[in-house]
Amino acid sequence: MKISIIGGTGSQGLNLGKRFAIAGEDVIIGSRKEEKALTKVEECLDLLKDYDNIKMEGMSNEDAAKAGDLLILTVPLSAQKPTLQSIKDFVGDKIVLDATVPLETAIGGSPARFIDLMEGSAAERTAKILKKTDAKVIAAFNNISNSLLENIPEPIDCDCLIAGNDNEAKKIAIELIEKIPGVECIDCGKLEKARMIEKITPLLIGLNIKYKSHYGGLRITGISRE
Ligand SMILES: NC(=O)c1ccc[n+]([C@@H]2O[C@H](COP(=O)([O-])OP(=O)(O)OC[C@H]3O[C@@H](n4cnc5c(N)ncnc54)[C@H](OP(=O)(O)O)[C@@H]3O)[C@@H](O)[C@H]2O)c1
Repeated sequence: MKISIIGGTGSQGLNLGKRFAIAGEDVIIGSRKEEKALTKVEECLDLLKDYDNIKMEGMSNEDAAKAGDLLILTVPLSAQKPTLQSIKDFVGDKIVLDATVPLETAIGGSPARFIDLMEGSAAERTAKILKKTDAKVIAAFNNISNSLLENIPEPIDCDCLIAGNDNEAKKIAIELIEKIPGVECIDCGKLEKARMIEKITPLLIGLNIKYKSHYGGLRITGISRE
C-alpha cells in the first residue's frame, strides 16, 4: 500500500513518514513544492540509511494524492481548506487520515488553546470539504507529538485515538497505525468523536509546556479491545 502524506514536509508529516518507512511501508511525502518534498526525502533517506529497504519518495501534493492508496493530511488548520481543495479531484474513495488540530495558533493565539469550528472538528471540516468525493475520513494522530514520532527507534508511549464513520476503513487504519512501535489504536466511534479527540491535544501541549517536556502523551486504560 502506498501512503501519501499531504503536507508531509512538516514535523508531524515527516516523522510519521519516517516511522511508516521503517515499518516497511511505501511512503510518499507531498508538498506544495515538489523540490521541497525531494529535499526532505533526501534528508530522511540519509537519516535512515542504517535501515534496510526504506521506500520514500517526494512529489507535489497533487501527484501524491493521485499516487497514494491511503492519504494522511498533516497541515496546519489555516492550510487545511486550500490543501484539500488542491487535491480533492484525486481523492476518490481513499481513506484520509486527518491529523489536523484546531489550535488557537491559527489566529495568532496559544498552542495550548483550542478554537471552535463551525463543523464541530477539523476532521468533520475535512469530510465537508471532501463531501463530493467518497473519501473515508478518519481523525488520527491528533494526540501523538512529533517529538515522540521523531524519537526513533524508541517505541511511542501514546495511544492513537481514532474516529470515523466507516468501520472497514478504520480496521485498515488501525492495522497500519499499529505498525508504529508502542502505538495502540482506540476506535472512539463515529467521526463526530473527533470533537473530543482534537481537544485533548492543546491540553497535552499545555502539559508539555508546564512540565518542560516534549513527550507528553495519553493512554486509555481499563478497556479490552478483544
Ligand atoms: N507537530 C505536532 O506535534 C502535531 C501533533 C499532533 C497533531 N498535529 C497536527 O498536524 C498538523 C501538521 O502539524 P505540523 O507541526 O507538521 O505543521 P507544520 O510543520 O506547520 O506544517 C506542515 C506542512 O504544511 C504545509 N503548510 C504550512 N503552511 C501552509 C499554508 N499556509 N498553506 C498550505 N500548506 C501549508 C507545509 O508544507 P509545504 O510547504 O511543503 O507545502 C508544511 O511543511 C497540524 O494540523 C497539527 O495541529 C501536529
